Amino acid sequence: MEHHLPQSVRVERRAVDEAESRRANGPDWDRYADEYQATHGDFLGDAGFLWGPEGHTEDTLGVLGEVVGRDVLEVGSGAGQCSRRVRMHGGRAIGLDLSHRQLQHSSRLDGETGVAVPSVRGTATHLPFSDASFDIVFSSFGALQFVRDIDDAVGEVARVLRPGGRFAFSITHPTRWMFPDDPGEAGLTATQSYWDRTPYVEVDDATGVVAYVEHHRTLGDWVRLLSSHAFELIDLLEPEWPESHDRVWGGWSRTRGMLTPGTAIFVALAAGGERS
Ligand SMILES: C[S@@+](CC[C@H](N)C(=O)[O-])C[C@H]1O[C@@H](n2cnc3c(N)ncnc32)[C@H](O)[C@@H]1O
Repeated sequence: MEHHLPQSVRVERRAVDEAESRRANGPDWDRYADEYQATHGDFLGDAGFLWGPEGHTEDTLGVLGEVVGRDVLEVGSGAGQCSRRVRMHGGRAIGLDLSHRQLQHSSRLDGETGVAVPSVRGTATHLPFSDASFDIVFSSFGALQFVRDIDDAVGEVARVLRPGGRFAFSITHPTRWMFPDDPGEAGLTATQSYWDRTPYVEVDDATGVVAYVEHHRTLGDWVRLLSSHAFELIDLLEPEWPESHDRVWGGWSRTRGMLTPGTAIFVALAAGGERS
């Protein structure tokens, strides 16, 4: 959970379907986008590619492999920083995001950097692309933990990837679900079951409307999801907190990061091709 908690919401754990998740998270990211970009924009870099709050970049991790001349889709692209980086390295990256306001920031950065990321508003469970259109699909803390129908989302990635194409994504490390979302010492004591998949829900106190939703899957759930769509899992990175890094981002901090993993990066290959 990476959420900014406005005063006027209450937190619940309860089942939420895909439509309600989307109805909550689109407007939530529209409301939050300006603050998000103002707070994290410098750290993200206008054409930077961060895999998570630990500050590890694609330039150092090389998770996507060769991008030159490759068709690349970023799911949950926000202001397009990662895709812009891919473009600067010769990949044909495009972005997809649920939030109109995040995409307005993307277009602002297109102008400011001179590196434009073609982007489309949409949702991860219905990708508006033909079958086998991409060599690489990636997501850096993008849509995947915000969708309920994750089987549809992973199925869509499998559909739009070419044979042997690469799917790489970072999410909050599933073990973090056990702990309070607190960057301090309190965030080091397990208080709820790792196996409880009941979504994290914020409800607007005044209206009773669901204002934000996050969904949890265990590491095993992810492995089964990928293999059920014929992906071959080739890596699971759990980046360590760098010695020199001292930036707090939501529940991510040095205090927690030195002891527990905060980010998981899955790397998988679509069926039916040579390794890319
Ligand atoms: C934490 S941001 C990550 C964006 C970017 N990688 C970054 O680091 O700033 C998550 C993004 O996922 C988007 N998102 C949430 N649910 C989505 C969905 N169902 N389909 C597509 N994008 C979604 C949000 O609008 C938001 O821009």
